[in-house]
Amino acid sequence: MNQSPQFRPLLALAALLLLAACGGRSDPPPLQGATMGGPINLIGGDGRRVSDSQFAGRYRIVYFGFTFCPDVCPVDLALIGAGLRRFEAEDAARAARVTPIFISVDPARDTPAVVGAYAARFHPRIVALTGSEEEVAQVARRYAIYYQRQPPAQPGGAYLVDHSRQIVLYGPEGEPIAILPHDQGIDAFVAELRRWVR
Ligand code: NI
Repeated sequence: MNQSPQFRPLLALAALLLLAACGGRSDPPPLQGATMGGPINLIGGDGRRVSDSQFAGRYRIVYFGFTFCPDVCPVDLALIGAGLRRFEAEDAARAARVTPIFISVDPARDTPAVVGAYAARFHPRIVALTGSEEEVAQVARRYAIYYQRQPPAQPGGAYLVDHSRQIVLYGPEGEPIAILPHDQGIDAFVAELRRWVR
């Protein structure tokens, strides 16, 4: 390259700004570039269609489960609810940019009304979603969630649904950011929100 001397200070300044930009944030998001997430077209707790475009510009905490779940889902949803309330208390503006989303993997029993009432017990802003078996299966695949209905213990008895236990934070464009820890307590959970939500 043949740089004339008068350009050198400018180049040095550009390099410095680049360094500052890189040094300002520590690590890239752990899920950066992961192929998960994407379109959602399901039914909300009020019976209306909900599309992912409604969440544009907002961070999303996405969790899949089912209302009949005896132990895991209630614990995880309680963490999401309490964690978000804590984040709201400490930084209302940033917390308002986060939309929690609960998607049922048991649409046969989780009607819109059932899933809506259930999710509201954990946080008033949780968007509860269900749909047809096929719609739910499609979204679960996109979001890298496994689930499998189990045979009931007794014939005709209630069944359970095995499912991935992942609380995933997505960014304002729907891009995956990080898995939020479900087993390290509320402090660790909120620390991750604080870290990634701008
Ligand atoms: Ni569950």
